[in-house]
Amino acid sequence: MPPKRYLVTAALPYANGPLHFGHIAGCYLPADCYSRFLRQNGEDVFFVSGSDEYGVAITLSAEQAGRSPKEHVDHFHAINKAFFETLKISFDHYSRTTIDIHTKTAQEFFTTLLNNGWVEEQMSDQLYSEADGRFLADRYVEGTCPKCGFDKARGDECTSCGASYEATDLKNPKSKLTGAPLNTKATKHWFLRFDKFKDQLIQWIQDKPWKANVKSFAKHYIDELKPRAITRDSNWGIPVPLDHAEGKVLYVWFDAPIGYISMTKEWDENRWSDFWQNSDTQLTHFVGKDNIPFHAIFFPAMLMGMDQNYKLVDDLPANEFLQYEGKQFSKSAGHTIDLERFFKQFTPDQIRYVLAANAPETQDADFSWDDFQTRCNSELVGKFGNFANRSLVFIQRKLDAVIPAHGDLTPDDQDFLDRCRELKEQIHAAYSGYSLRKATQLIMELAQIGNIYFDHKKPWKDLEGAKTTLYCCLQCLQDLAIAAAPIIPTSAGKLWALLGYATPLTTWNHDPILAGQPLPTPEILFAKVEDDQIQAAK
Ligand code: MF3
Ligand code: ZN
Repeated sequence: MPPKRYLVTAALPYANGPLHFGHIAGCYLPADCYSRFLRQNGEDVFFVSGSDEYGVAITLSAEQAGRSPKEHVDHFHAINKAFFETLKISFDHYSRTTIDIHTKTAQEFFTTLLNNGWVEEQMSDQLYSEADGRFLADRYVEGTCPKCGFDKARGDECTSCGASYEATDLKNPKSKLTGAPLNTKATKHWFLRFDKFKDQLIQWIQDKPWKANVKSFAKHYIDELKPRAITRDSNWGIPVPLDHAEGKVLYVWFDAPIGYISMTKEWDENRWSDFWQNSDTQLTHFVGKDNIPFHAIFFPAMLMGMDQNYKLVDDLPANEFLQYEGKQFSKSAGHTIDLERFFKQFTPDQIRYVLAANAPETQDADFSWDDFQTRCNSELVGKFGNFANRSLVFIQRKLDAVIPAHGDLTPDDQDFLDRCRELKEQIHAAYSGYSLRKATQLIMELAQIGNIYFDHKKPWKDLEGAKTTLYCCLQCLQDLAIAAAPIIPTSAGKLWALLGYATPLTTWNHDPILAGQPLPTPEILFAKVEDDQIQAAK
C-alpha cells in the first residue's frame, strides 16, 4: 500500500557556524528536491529541519567566539535560515531546539523511557579536567579512536570512521582547549540501555531498502550496542527532569532527533501525531554519512522504547561527502567556499543544478570551478536554455506567438513524443529513488533530444510542417519544465510562464499543451557564466 503521507527530515545543522557546503549537496538539497517532487505529485508532505542548538559543539565554539551560547545560536540560526531561503530550500517548517515545546517533548521522552525501564541511573567515571575544575565531554575532548586509531577523534564520535562511543573508551584523552591529559572521576549519569534493543533492531532493520553500505554499517553497529550515557554535566542544555539532577542536562544527541518531533508539534499541534504515530506515514531521514548511527539505530531504539506507536525511519538516503577541487573542504586550511559570496555571484538554480549533478550519492564527489562553469554553460545554457529559446523564438517570429495546432503526426513526431514521455517517467523513477544525479542526466537528455528533433525537422524550411514540429517541441518543453522543477524551481517556473500558463507550476501530470494559447515574449532562462566571474569567485 502506498503511504498516505510523507514525513521528510533533513539533519538539524548545529547553529555554531555557517552551513557547510558539503551538507547542502549531501543532505539539504536532496531533501528539498525530494519534497518538491512529492508535492508536485499531489502527496501530503511535511518537510522539517531546524537548528541544533545545545551540546558541546555549541558551548565550545561560543566560548572560542567570546559569546554566550544563547547569543551564539541566535546569530547562526538567523544566518543559516537566511542561507536556506536564498537557496530556495522549501521547508514546511524550519525551527530550532531551544523552543519551549522541545524542552517539554525531550523531557517527556526521558521520563517515559525511564518509567518504561530503559534508562538507568549510574555512577560512572567520566573525563575530568583538574585544570578547569569541570567534567569535559564530547568535543572538549580529543583522543585516539578505539575503533580505527585516528588520533584526533572527538569524545563521542570519530570523524574518520564514523564510530560513536563513550568518551572513556578513547585512548589518551586530552582536553581540546589546553591539550592537558584528562583524569577520570566518578559522577552520576543516566544511561539508556541500547543493548537491550538489539534483537528488536536486528528484526526491524532486516527488510530496510537502504543502500548496501548504510545497511551494513548499521548492522555492524547493532552487534556492539552498549548502554550509553544520555546526560551530561553542563549548564547549556535541557535540564534532566528529576529532583536530584542539578547541573545535569540531556546529551545533545538524545535531544536533537526528538527535535524533528517537537518542531512538527510546533508547526501543527493537531496534525503532528498523524505524521509521527501512524503506520501510513513514510518517514525519510536525509543525513550525511557521519550521522548514520544516530538515525539508523539510536533514534529508532528511543522511539521503540517509548512504546507509543512512533513511526521509525523507512528510508535513510545517507550521502557521502562532497570534496572541493579534489580535497576535503577545510575551513581551517582556507580550502572552502564562502557561501554568502557564492550565493551572491550565481543564481540559486545554477548552484542547485550543479550540486544535484554532482550529488555525492554512492561515493564522495567533487566540486570544481571548471565543472561549475561547464555545466552552467554547456548544459543549462547550451542544451536546456537553447532548446527553450529557439522553440519559443520561432513561434514568436513565424507562428504569430500562438501555440500552433498540430497536423498529422509523422512516425518521427510520434517517436519523439513517445521518447519524451518515457524520459519523463524515468526521471520520476530517479526522484523516487533519491538519485539527483540520474535525474539531472535524464533532464539534459530530454533537452538534447529536443534539440536534435528541432535540427532534424528544420522547421524554418516549411512553415506548414513547422506547426506540428513546434507543437511537439512545446510538449517536450512542458515535460522539461515539470521534470526539472524540483531541482531548478525558479527557471522551471519561468519556462512554465513562457509556455503561456498564468497559474504556477504545481503538478507532475498535466494536460497536454493547448493549441491556440498565446505566448508571451520569450526570455533567456539561464545566464552564461563568464571566465572573469569564475576568476572572481575562486
Ligand atoms: N547537528 C548534527 C550534525 O550536524 C545533526 C543532528 S541531526 C538530529 O552533525 F537528528 F540529531 F537532529
Ligand atoms: Zn575512528
